[in-house]
Amino acid sequence: MAEKRILLIVGGGIAAYKVLELTRLLRKAAVAVRPILTRAGAEFVTPLSLSALAEDKVYSELFSLTDEAEMGHIELSRSADLVVVAPATADLMAKAANGLASDLASTTLLATDKPVLMAPAMNVRMWEHAATRRNFAALKADGVSFVGPDEGAMACGEYGPGRMAEPAAIFEAIMAALGGTARPLAGKRALVTAGPTVEAIDPVRMLTNRSSGKQGYAIASSLAALGAEVTLVSGPTALAAPAGVTRVDVESAREMLAACEAALPADIAVCVAAVADWRPAEANGRKLKKNAETPEPIALVENPDILAMLSKDARRPRLVVGFAAETHDVEAHAKAKLVRKGCDWIVANDVSIEGTMGGDQNAVALVSAGGIERWERMAKGEVARRLAERIAAELA
Ligand code: CTP
Repeated sequence: MAEKRILLIVGGGIAAYKVLELTRLLRKAAVAVRPILTRAGAEFVTPLSLSALAEDKVYSELFSLTDEAEMGHIELSRSADLVVVAPATADLMAKAANGLASDLASTTLLATDKPVLMAPAMNVRMWEHAATRRNFAALKADGVSFVGPDEGAMACGEYGPGRMAEPAAIFEAIMAALGGTARPLAGKRALVTAGPTVEAIDPVRMLTNRSSGKQGYAIASSLAALGAEVTLVSGPTALAAPAGVTRVDVESAREMLAACEAALPADIAVCVAAVADWRPAEANGRKLKKNAETPEPIALVENPDILAMLSKDARRPRLVVGFAAETHDVEAHAKAKLVRKGCDWIVANDVSIEGTMGGDQNAVALVSAGGIERWERMAKGEVARRLAERIAAELA
């Protein structure tokens, strides 16, 4: 557990005192704790005690200049493996359920792409109120996990559900959540290109290809699931950005190259995009009219090779992986591409097999200087998971 980090949001409730004990348990288990203390939370525990036990700075103000200078709220929200809210007050739950971003804690909850665990604590009537029921259901539907609340006597003198779970129980839930996902690529940056590129002929016409983006998106998602910070540079597709991935939308090959260069340095680059090899030498600013008897041929020029450029960049990622979509002599072409482009691996696939382009299945071979490894035909998601695991093993 030595490298695990949690972001601990401490809300304003009497149960906040229990968070000091929780912090002590986590530090003893070598889990790094970065606290965010809400203004109401600071009425119950002091920043000094929280900071002393967490052995880290306590963040509290969204607009604090020093906090933002050292670490912006977006970075803060993604700096951990897990976000824990304890006590999760009725107010914090309502804000999170409705996507409010009115202070540092709620903004962080809206901006994070990490799993969230909440330990609710509130008066029994507040817990049972229809509004809290709705918020609880909405948060669960959004993927938030919960520990507690327990039933028992409350500080306010009433009895019922609403007591925050004990520190040991929250500690167990945190350890289970952290242990549940192996994140061997935590701290690594990955760049993935996906989809087709679109090269304008004139404002209404274009040169493009049949790439769906599915394989590239699945790889971006699998790398993120293993903890990598992923930038997905994507041509136009019908797909939604995978959770936890930063997508940069581009159209042309030249835009894709610029976006890739802007995403460096990175530890890993996986070029899955079906980049158009050529673009019209001139992109006409005005629509070409069909008044000429025979249309002028469209002169083409070659596009930059993004994979080759990344492979020879001064900031070359440690591992550069390309794809080779071939219709014949798959492995021979892949081997030649490996050398020509200067990348470390080529994932070769035979697109002459029906259902590969745009479909959900892929039969690939992994080609490296060391040889060829043939994988059986499997779902594109499975290819992505296997490849992400191979990448993690290579960088370990
Ligand atoms: N690629 C790239 N930039 C280009 C062309 C290709 O980054 N301008 C990348 C693709 O993303 C893929 C790999 O290079 O990872 C191989 O693409 P492919 O189209 O198979 O290779 P080409 O170089 O275009 O070779 P050919 O068309 O002759 O097969």
